[in-house]
Formats: sequence, structure tokens, C-alpha cells
Amino acid sequence: MDPVEYEMLRHTWFPVARVADLLDGVAGGAILGEELVVYGEGRDVTVAEGFCPHRGVALRLGRTRDGALECPYHGWRFAGGSGRCTRVPSLPPGREGTRAALRTFPARVAYGLVWSCLAEPSLPFPELPVGIDDTWQLAAGEPYTLGCGMRQLTENFRDKAHFPFVHANTMGDVSKVVNSYRIARDGWQLGWSSSLRSEDAPDEFAEKFSHRLDYHITLPMFASIRVSSPSGGRRLVAQMATPLTADGLRVRQFWLVGVDSAAAAGGAELADVLAYERQVFEEDHPIVENQQPIEAPLDLHSQLHTPADKFSITYRRVYSELLERFKERS
Ligand code: FES
Ligand SMILES: [Fe+2]
Repeated sequence: MDPVEYEMLRHTWFPVARVADLLDGVAGGAILGEELVVYGEGRDVTVAEGFCPHRGVALRLGRTRDGALECPYHGWRFAGGSGRCTRVPSLPPGREGTRAALRTFPARVAYGLVWSCLAEPSLPFPELPVGIDDTWQLAAGEPYTLGCGMRQLTENFRDKAHFPFVHANTMGDVSKVVNSYRIARDGWQLGWSSSLRSEDAPDEFAEKFSHRLDYHITLPMFASIRVSSPSGGRRLVAQMATPLTADGLRVRQFWLVGVDSAAAAGGAELADVLAYERQVFEEDHPIVENQQPIEAPLDLHSQLHTPADKFSITYRRVYSELLERFKERS
């Protein structure tokens, strides 16, 4: 990975674990090769270096005791928030002191996920698109670990031309033609809308049978689609990609689904939306794990494009601009 990109991503918020996956209050995670441990409860979580400073045991194997993280090997305890060591059980009574502490990182809970950042965040925390508010029900799907780059996965998420080929089983017979579309940009956010209709819907009923798709991306990698159904309800699917390794060639894919109150009133169940999107993602995985290069190239001349790829081209351009901006500032 380009050193400027590596540095920029160290200053970027990424999800590291799903709240639901904190077993005994503890979960493991990683960003750019830095192994992390997440510990705590509810919104009160700490993200710290992943290995015990005593003998280097992976702290994700530990458990929480009174809000502190207990190492599974010799029971050293590390406080929530500060990471300070508060107990070394092998010391005789009265000799509890140690100056040891875990290195901690910024931590935040949002959308059922614990987020962190390896260095002072240089971009605002990514919000869901406008209109996805507290009236929506949200759920986080189980994360996947994939052998592909963050941008490759982000581009796949918005690529509409692959639907009839990769998703014939889940999406049915959708149109292969991608009509031209306009991309709206607001700072580091991109959005555009399109519709998806069944190939066999007659033209005069196109509107009635069409789902409206509102795409949204907050760079570098927080992507979502809000699908408005012809009958009125809306649902959401969002994807985030966390680079796990320093070379950026392995990622953890986090994802969310949501339904608005109209969809819920119409009988839409979060569990069904999760099951459907899980199937869609699993159809994508053999594709995104078998692309060369493993990360989407920023050099626009190194691949061929069609007008349907307008989003990818814009994304790569704006991503390059984001890198430039970061370089100027640092
Ligand atoms: S390795 Fe963690 S307490 Fe000894
Ligand atoms: Fe896909």
C-alpha cells in the first residue's frame, strides 16, 4: 500500500467488531495489521492493543471483570477507558502497583458496531444517509473476512451491471442495461439514484414495478443503498470495509440492514432482510476474492470502463483527491 494511503487510513474510523460478538465482554479486531482487543459493555467500550504486555497473550481470549479486562494467562487486569493495569494477582498483598498500561485507541459504538481509529481521526465519523433515523430498525449482520482490497469491495457494492450475472438467484431477471445516471457530490460523499425493475415488467408499468435505489457513499468506504419498494416501505443495506492487514489486501466486511416503519408495518422482518442480504453478499464473495489486482487501481488507464462504471471512476478520482488533501495537510 502506498505510504500516504496507509497513513491516511490510520486516521480513519473503521468498524472493528460487532457489539453482538463481545463474548464475556471481549472481542478481537484489527486495522492495518494492528491487532486490537475490544472490551466493555453497552456503549462503554475500550479499544486497546491486542496483546498482553506481560507475556504477549492475545487479549481477545480474556474476559471482563467489573468493567476491566482480565488477561487469560496470569489474570492481570486492565481498566476500561485508560487501559491502566489495576491488578497483578501474583504480587503479594500490599504490592499491587505496576506502571503497565495497554495502549488505547479512540472507540465509539454506532449501528451495533464498535468503531476505532489508529490515530487522531482526520475525517468526521461516518453517518448514515439523511433520513435513516431512530424510527428505523437496524441490525448488523455477521462480518466476513475476505481476500480483497477495501476499494474493490466498496466498488462491488455499488456496481449495478453485475446484478443480472452474479445475483440472478436472489434478484431475478433484472435489466442488463444500465441507464445513464448522475452522481451528486457533497464533500467526501457521493450519491445517486436509479431504479431496478423486472425485465418482464411492461414499459407502461415500469414505474409500478420499479424499486428506487438511492446509493450513498462516504469515503473512504461506508456505502449504503436505500431501496424504496413500489408499495411504499423502505429498507437499507449498508457495507463497511476495514483493512485488516498493513498491505490492505485482506478486509473485514461489516454490514447492516434496516427497515423503516412503513416496511415494518407491511410485515418486513429484519431477520428476513438479513437472510436475503447475506445471500446477496455470499454471491459476491467469489467475485471480489478473485480479481486482479486485489485492490482497485487508482490509475484510471489501467482498466477498461463503460458508462455504467461512472460511479467507480468518480470514486477513484475522489479517493485520489482525498489522498492529495491528506498529503497536503500532513
Ligand atoms: S500474559 Fe497476560 S497476565 Fe501474563
Ligand atoms: Fe453484488
